Amino acid sequence: MKIETLIAPALPLSGDWLVLSLWEGADMAKSVVGISEGLMTRIDQLRQQGDFEGKRGEQIALYDSFGTPFERILLVGLGKADTATLGSILRAGGAAIRTISKRGANIVAFASVPAGSSLDPSQAAAAQVTGAILGEGSQEIFRSNKSRKPIGKIIVSSPDADAIDRSARIAESVRWAADLVNLTPEELYPESFCQRAIEESATLPIKVEVLRVPELSANKMACILGVGRGSVNEPRLLILRYQAAPSDPRQLALVGKGITFDSGGLSIKTADGMLTMKCDMAGAAAVVAATMAIARLKLPVNILCVAPLAENMPSSNAIRPGDVLRAKNGKTIEVVNTDAEGRLVLADALSHAIDLGATHLVDLATLTGACLVALGTSVAGLMTNQEDWADQVHAASESVGERLWRLPLDDDYEELIRSGIADMKNSGGKYGGAITAAKLLEQFVANKPWCHLDIAGPAFSEKESPHQDAGGTGFGVRTLVELADRFARR
Ligand code: BES
Ligand code: MN
Ligand code: ZN
Repeated sequence: MKIETLIAPALPLSGDWLVLSLWEGADMAKSVVGISEGLMTRIDQLRQQGDFEGKRGEQIALYDSFGTPFERILLVGLGKADTATLGSILRAGGAAIRTISKRGANIVAFASVPAGSSLDPSQAAAAQVTGAILGEGSQEIFRSNKSRKPIGKIIVSSPDADAIDRSARIAESVRWAADLVNLTPEELYPESFCQRAIEESATLPIKVEVLRVPELSANKMACILGVGRGSVNEPRLLILRYQAAPSDPRQLALVGKGITFDSGGLSIKTADGMLTMKCDMAGAAAVVAATMAIARLKLPVNILCVAPLAENMPSSNAIRPGDVLRAKNGKTIEVVNTDAEGRLVLADALSHAIDLGATHLVDLATLTGACLVALGTSVAGLMTNQEDWADQVHAASESVGERLWRLPLDDDYEELIRSGIADMKNSGGKYGGAITAAKLLEQFVANKPWCHLDIAGPAFSEKESPHQDAGGTGFGVRTLVELADRFARR
């Protein structure tokens, strides 16, 4: 799908479809610039008959040009203008593309978001593009008859062509992360993950380093080695360095959980429980995709991206409940449950990020089912050791419409992961599971400002939604790029 930008407020001049977004309310058609009299009348009629009121999520296709240069017109409801967010524009854009791609089209033109809200016109147009690119994504890699057909080009109208370009690059990185999640665990294992990252970053100013088993041993990363050792697919540690602020002493570390398949290991999951566990590398995909987007946008910032990659399998060689692992920073962890493997690989990865000079850290991980229980499928948990850093991460996420919600990390929770034989154990039991997992991670960040995002809910969607297919979502990429942008300007 190509993207073409017209300088606003011009209405595109031709196309198979015109997507006309409308606010809910009596004069919804009047706020649109440049549409024909006939179309205006038709929209009024539809509203009066109750067939289209502009409610959020509402859509109706008109197979008539009404004197416009378009063969078909898709009316898309945005909801009330005074409660509008960029998120609602994004979802409307995605839903429009998903409707139109049932048939496919050469050219789809988006009319600009009508006036009447407090949204910035260039950001609103950028959100349409983000929504369209994400909406075009699909998990149907192996279906012979795809339910959606390609769209050649979208045309948007915006006062700021650079903002459109930027949002398209970021959205393509989100798609890269989501597509990686959608690959089968047969195709995507630690080594092939690294190869894809190397290929994708080949033309970018990023240094890639891959630690294989001998280097992991030399670096005393017993946790990554332990989790990975039950699988024929060996573990790896992938490190991406993007250093574009030589005089800035700060290093922003982005660390992502990369379990390419989580069977639970010897503490094996149920059949249902492991069905979606190819998604357990979504954190790693998000941090790698964000680093590449940051490099494409040439943001003046230093990024240290660290992704521990392993496949968690049962085997005669796998770690057992009762084993003790020593992480890179010297701390020991009693493995009471081999299914709590994410925190183990992250213990080594966070320690390594600190040793490489990280001054600020964010980790993304599909870490706990408990976080899903607490926050559901569309909001990620945010836990931190530093309020100010959490505020910055939260502000970045809010501005791009990815939802985060704070969970506490009080000292009391530490008792729950005390071990009789080691410095800590890898499960705190039934209660507060998202928090006790984060409490363990906190032992590996050397008191540096750190935020942990538990993305177990929003990283993967079991059902399709009007604006996006089921499968990987690329959640977190947009927050990280926005965070890096703000970090660079501070
Ligand atoms: N990868 C899972 C968490 C998960 C569950 C992600 C559902 C996405 C959807 C993680 O490794 C895990 O198995 N966590 C256990 C921890 C427990 C054994 C302490 C869990 O949440 O049950
Ligand atoms: Mn697990
Ligand atoms: Zn896992």
